[in-house]
Amino acid sequence: MTHKIGLVGCGTVGQGLLEILDRKAAELRDKHGFEAKVVAISDKLKGSVLAPDGVDIKAVLTVLGAGKTLDAYPGGKGPADTPDPLEMIERCGADMIAEMTYTDIQTGEPATSYIKKALQTGKNVATSNKGPAALHYAALKSLARVHGVQFRIEGTVMSGTPVFHLAESGLAGNEVREVLGILNGTTNFILSKMELDDMDYGEALKLAQKLGYAEADPTADVEGFDAAGKVVILSNVLLGGSVAPADVKREGISAITRDMVKEAKAQGFRYKLIGRAAKEGGKVAASVAPRKLPLTDPLAGIMGAQNALTFDTDLMGKVTIQGAGAGRIETGFSILSDLLAIHRSQAD
Ligand code: HSE
Repeated sequence: MTHKIGLVGCGTVGQGLLEILDRKAAELRDKHGFEAKVVAISDKLKGSVLAPDGVDIKAVLTVLGAGKTLDAYPGGKGPADTPDPLEMIERCGADMIAEMTYTDIQTGEPATSYIKKALQTGKNVATSNKGPAALHYAALKSLARVHGVQFRIEGTVMSGTPVFHLAESGLAGNEVREVLGILNGTTNFILSKMELDDMDYGEALKLAQKLGYAEADPTADVEGFDAAGKVVILSNVLLGGSVAPADVKREGISAITRDMVKEAKAQGFRYKLIGRAAKEGGKVAASVAPRKLPLTDPLAGIMGAQNALTFDTDLMGKVTIQGAGAGRIETGFSILSDLLAIHRSQAD
């Protein structure tokens, strides 16, 4: 089956997705019966292209890889001439929209408007954007249902590590009572460096910035806002809560010192920034805070920029999944995994 795909946002993640679609085209066709035609790309900074017969993905990647905008691609437009993405979503003729614009966790915009427009015009949506998923998951899911399409969010937590796919297929039939996880790579990298390389907090943070894990303004990482957004999504999607970002009890790692890390180690413990969502008294309680875990806990063994999540379930007990939490190809893959899930549901 050939799918027409529209990309809204074509930065790191969008280009990761394009690279996968190009590199794996034959495998996706032969093993999964999935053929992708990218019929539209729209990006605030890079411009846009509308191509009903599909773009030449390699040529687009060459243009963007050279730091040029899409007016350097035949038929493409630069940022100044690019139509409103809402217009493009409406008239691009795609059956799937990959929404990969920047996250605004306060308003969820403009991504939420893009997603609504796509769903209302009968297009499936896969997004890696935490804003719409944290603020409007239930509404967007029901809008999708009304229009007979799907709204999928695998890339919003732990990039392409299959958190939501695991819950909806492998663990289906279980009640998830609690999830506990390392949901931010930057802070786990910092805590790991403080212990393994005896760095102080400031040194480790600088290194995380240098390696591109932390943002230039790393507050969202180190003060737990990024993890809190992910906890909101896990609460509402996996535990059926109606948690808002302000409901999450949040504490970051900036008060953890090298001495505290050393002392914990001597006692057989390790500090981790843990995001938690749990059913408690008919409600979902959500928090992010540094915790001293015994070294026997699977989450204590997760080092560096890796993420991990433990599901506490009624039938299977505790199940832990570990993997990347960010990255160009890893998050590009999260979108592909959702597009493939939509494809499989249509091919069945
Ligand atoms: N800054 C985030 C992290 C990226 O360090 O995990 C993924 O949301």
